[in-house]
Amino acid sequence: MCGIVGYVGQEQAAPILLDGLKRLEYRGYDSAGVAIYSEKYQKLQVEKAKGRLQVLSDMIRGGEDLDGMVGIGHTRWATHGAPSDVNAHPQVSRSGKIAVVHNGIIENYAELKAFLIEQGVPFTSQTDTEVVAQLIEYFYETDQVDILEAVGRVLRRIEGAYALGILCADKPDQLIAVRKDSPLILGYGKGCSFLASDVTAIIKYTREVGYMDDDELAVLTKDGIQCYNHLMQPIEKEISHVDWEIDAAEKGGYEHFMFKEIMEQPEALRRCIFPRIREGEVYFEDFGLTEEEIRHLKKIYIVACGSSYHVGVVGKYNLERLTRIPVEVALASEFRYMSPIVDERTLVVVISQSGETLDTMAALREAKRLGGRILSIVNVVGSSIARESDQVLYTWAGPEIAVATTKAYSTQMAVVDLLALYFARILGTVEESEYHAVLDEMLLLPGKMEAILSNKDDIQYFASQYFNHDSVFFIGRNVDYALGLEGSLKLKEISYIHSEAYASGELKHGTISLIEDGTLVVALGTYGKLFDKAMANVVEVRSRGADVLALTTENRREDMEKNANAVITIPETHDMLLPSLGVVPLQLFAYYVALMRGCDIDKPRNLAKSVTVE
Ligand code: AGP
Ligand code: GLU
Repeated sequence: MCGIVGYVGQEQAAPILLDGLKRLEYRGYDSAGVAIYSEKYQKLQVEKAKGRLQVLSDMIRGGEDLDGMVGIGHTRWATHGAPSDVNAHPQVSRSGKIAVVHNGIIENYAELKAFLIEQGVPFTSQTDTEVVAQLIEYFYETDQVDILEAVGRVLRRIEGAYALGILCADKPDQLIAVRKDSPLILGYGKGCSFLASDVTAIIKYTREVGYMDDDELAVLTKDGIQCYNHLMQPIEKEISHVDWEIDAAEKGGYEHFMFKEIMEQPEALRRCIFPRIREGEVYFEDFGLTEEEIRHLKKIYIVACGSSYHVGVVGKYNLERLTRIPVEVALASEFRYMSPIVDERTLVVVISQSGETLDTMAALREAKRLGGRILSIVNVVGSSIARESDQVLYTWAGPEIAVATTKAYSTQMAVVDLLALYFARILGTVEESEYHAVLDEMLLLPGKMEAILSNKDDIQYFASQYFNHDSVFFIGRNVDYALGLEGSLKLKEISYIHSEAYASGELKHGTISLIEDGTLVVALGTYGKLFDKAMANVVEVRSRGADVLALTTENRREDMEKNANAVITIPETHDMLLPSLGVVPLQLFAYYVALMRGCDIDKPRNLAKSVTVE
C-alpha cells in the first residue's frame, strides 16, 4: 500500500532512489529505507529508519555515503509490526545477500515463518515481509537454484497481495520485480531501468512505462527489462507513454485524492476482507478475546467520532441482530460525560481511521478505567489508539489522504460485519445458512462495488441537477437511516451545503414542516423489508413539493421510479451489507456536487484529517 522505487543503470542509485521516494511521500508512510549494492565493498548496503524520509536521507548524507548503481527503496505503511527501524524495509535475508521491499500483505506469513524458524532461520522483524526475504534465501541456498528460480518457488507458496522489489548481492547487475494485487510499474530508460509503485516516482527520468499484471515477474538490467508470466515463460510487455503532469500522477491520474480513494475501495475491501475469510470461516489472526470471554460479554459499546461513529450506527443494527448482545453507540466526545455503564463484561469497540482522534482516545481511556475490554478498529498501524487497546483489528485500507474519509469508512464497516459474524458463530446465534450466505456476499462486495463505480457518470448527472440546492434531507429507515448519516456528512463537509439525515418515520413528528417546493430529499430505500414504508415516505415528501432522489436496489428500480424524481440503484446483497454498497453512490454524489460548486475537495475549510484537539 505504500511506495517502492528501484533503479539499475550507470548513475549512482542512492540519489535517484531518494528522489523517487520523496515523490511518493504524499501517499503517507511511517518509515523508509534503501538497499544498494556497493561495488567498493562487494555487498548490499542497507539503510532504513522510522519516521520521515528526511531522517533516512540525513543518515546517508543525501545518498553520498552509499556507492553503487543498483538499488531498491521503500516507504512503508505498516500492516504487520509497528513502525520501527527494524520493521522498515528493505527486509533482508539471514546472510544479508537478499533484500526485499514489499507493498501489500502476505496472508500466510505466520505458517511460513514457523516453518523457517523450525529450519533454524533467525528473524529480526515483526513484519510479514521478512518471510519473503528469508524464504527466497532458503530455496536459493537449500535447493542451490538461481535467484530467479528461488523467487519463483517462493511465489508458489506465499498467499496474499504483493508488489516486490528484490536485490541479490550475487547478481548485482539486476533487480527482480513481482506483482500480484498491488500495483507495480516498470520504467524503460536509456542505459537504465526503473521499478516503481506508481508513475510519480520515476516520471522525472522516463515517461516510457510498462504496467505489470498479476502473477508477472520482471528482471531489470541497465540494458533493458525481460518479463515472465507465472510459468516463467518470457512475455512481451506493452510500453506506454505517460503524458500526465506530476501533480496528476500523484493522484493516479485522478483530479483529487478523494476520488482516487473512492475508486480504490474495491481493492481496499479485498485487502481487508479476503485474509479474514478462510475455508468459509471468519479468521482473525491473534484475536485477543477467547471464546469464553465472548460468551461472557453482556454489552458492547461502540465509541467513535464522525464517519467512524456512523460505522458504529450501522454496526449496532448488525451486531445486535446477529449476536443478540445489547449494543450502544456513543459519540466519543459525549461518552466520558454520560456516566457510561461499563464493566469487565463490556466490550468497548473503538473505531478510528487515524488512531489519533483525541475525543476517541479520551473515551478509550475512560472505558479502560471503568474496566471495559478495548477492541479498536484502526487504519494506522501503531497509532496511539491501537497501542492503548487490548486488541486491534486493522482495516488495511492503505493511506487515506483526503480529509473526507471513504475507503477507511468502507473497510471499517467490513471489519465490524466480520466481527458480528465471528461473535455470532461462537455464540451460536446465527443460522449456518445465513452465516455462509453473508460470507459469500462479502467476497462479492468488491466486484459489486466496481459495478457501481462503472456507472459513476449517472451520479455525476444527478449531481448536476441538484448542486445548487442549499438544504438537503437524507431519509431512511434501519440501516438506510444509518447510511444517510454518512451520506449527509459527506455532502456537508466537502460541498458546504447544509443537510441532515433523518429517520423517515420520524419526519412527521416535526421536521416535515421544513419540506417545501423544491426541497431536495435523498430517500434511501435499499433495505427491502421496509421498502413499502420507504416508498410511503417518498410519497409523503413529494406531496409537499420535495424533489426526491432515491437510492434503492436494482430489483426495486421500477417501483421507486413510480414516485421518485430520479433513482440510483445498487446491486442486491445481504441486508447487513447494503450500507457497504449504498455509501458509494452517496460519496460520488457529494464529490460531484462539491466539484460543481468549486469547493476544495481534498482539504475542505475548517477541517483536519485527524482531529487531535478536544
Ligand atoms: C470523515 O469524513 C471526517 N473527516 C471525520 O468525521 C472523521 O471521520 C472523524 O474526525 C473521525 O476520525 P478518525 O476515524 O480518524 O477517528
Ligand atoms: N505488510 C508489509 C509490512 O507491514 C508491507 C506494508 C506496505 O505495504 O508498506 O511491512
